Amino acid sequence: DAASMRPQPGDLLVFMIGENQGETIAPSQVEVGARPILAYPMDPVTKTLRDGSRFNIIAVGRLDPSEIEDDTKPLSADGVVAYSAVCTHNGCIITENNDTHHEFVCNCHGSTFDVGNKGKIVVGPATRRLAILPLKLADGNVTVAADFDGRLGPPRE
Ligand code: FES
Repeated sequence: DAASMRPQPGDLLVFMIGENQGETIAPSQVEVGARPILAYPMDPVTKTLRDGSRFNIIAVGRLDPSEIEDDTKPLSADGVVAYSAVCTHNGCIITENNDTHHEFVCNCHGSTFDVGNKGKIVVGPATRRLAILPLKLADGNVTVAADFDGRLGPPRE
């Protein structure tokens, strides 16, 4: 059903938890250097929140433009980047970043991903990069531009 569909082009991103839960994310609400914001995609027309699958949880961050590599830049929107929040090591939800301001860190076993460089692994034990969710700006909102680029979650045994 619509709630379990993967993020679709044109979807808005909505705060999953916290004081802004349920609100659409604007770039001004995403701070450089802050911990990743967890979000769900939402169909902008029907307002269906796509919260029916854990693989739809998205980790949103903002980077200084100088920290975004050339092949990641077209997938970002005003410095905002979005990735699958499901760690590719063992499936924990990624909630931390580090002092570099361009790396997301999984609390479970410390896997570290460069979110300025398409989610590339900086530190294991993960063996696969994070899937990036291409973004664009539409009417000042962060909007999904295309399907996830990359595989979701840990490799299946
Ligand atoms: Fe993320 Fe192990 S589940 S590092």
